[in-house]
Amino acid sequence: MGPKQKIIQLLNHDGGVVSGETLSAELGVSRVSIWKHIKGLVQQGVPIQASPKGYRLATDPDSLHPYHFASRQDRIHFYEETESTMDEAMRLARNGCPDYTVAVALRQTRGRGRMQRVWSSDAGGLYFTVVVRPDIPLMFSGLVNLAAAVDMADTLKSGYAVAAGLKWPNDILVNEKKICGILSQMEAEGDQVGYLNIGLGLNVNNQPESVETGAVSLKSLLGRSIPRREILVAFLDAFEKRMESFDPAAVIQQWKLHNLTLGKRVHVATVKETVEGLAVDLDAQGGLILQLSDGTLQTVVHGDCFHGR
Ligand code: BTN
Repeated sequence: MGPKQKIIQLLNHDGGVVSGETLSAELGVSRVSIWKHIKGLVQQGVPIQASPKGYRLATDPDSLHPYHFASRQDRIHFYEETESTMDEAMRLARNGCPDYTVAVALRQTRGRGRMQRVWSSDAGGLYFTVVVRPDIPLMFSGLVNLAAAVDMADTLKSGYAVAAGLKWPNDILVNEKKICGILSQMEAEGDQVGYLNIGLGLNVNNQPESVETGAVSLKSLLGRSIPRREILVAFLDAFEKRMESFDPAAVIQQWKLHNLTLGKRVHVATVKETVEGLAVDLDAQGGLILQLSDGTLQTVVHGDCFHGR
């Protein structure tokens, strides 16, 4: 870790004012050298405030700048605006970035949804893609998306007491309105997953209702703005922990605890066909098992699911 990063870490860790003397002792360099590093950081846009007592990092709980992510900061790639964090993550993954690298943007100009849809990405939402390099067979790759949906639903439920549920495969709904969508892109190495990029678009302080009637934001549910960093950190804590000892059966079981699809009549539109039936179960890889009108079972592995009764 370089001196500038170390300074940010110390300022982050303390949260208050840290004297130049403390910083110089911790880094083993002179106070003049500390002052030069601080000046460099401020020139880079890091909001460090200097006072006679020392230095402090301005706290903005909604900031998504890497320097506010403590030990994770090296893996956070922040963009004020980009076309899509999926593209940024793909570039990072191809360049060999480490596991759990995150591309996060305040706005996306070409945000993408599933099935070639546009994902409206106005300011105020949380738009990010995590690069994962899971040591799992290809057949379980779909479960990583389901796992991300479970972890974000848990984050929303436990942190904000919203009644988040899951529509197969990985839409997060509250009162039947979509609050979060998940998109993934993968590159395989033989029959193993090489990297898997999981992109999440969460309606936080944006107003998706004005673009899409079937959508809702956390702000409109709670009647107040929510700082996005705490949501991202809570999600990453849960998701990284899960991925360190990935358990396919646990994902299925936890998904079912949030389930809004099983037990309903649904139709699932794939690029080729539309399948209608009663959603009866998930298979071991996260596919949706439908009971058709003639009583036979059919499993669908991808597609857009629409709930009936
Ligand atoms: C869907 O429900 O259709 C999936 C939406 C996924 C949106 C996120 S926002 C961050 C990442 N970048 C994108 O362009 N898409 C995903």
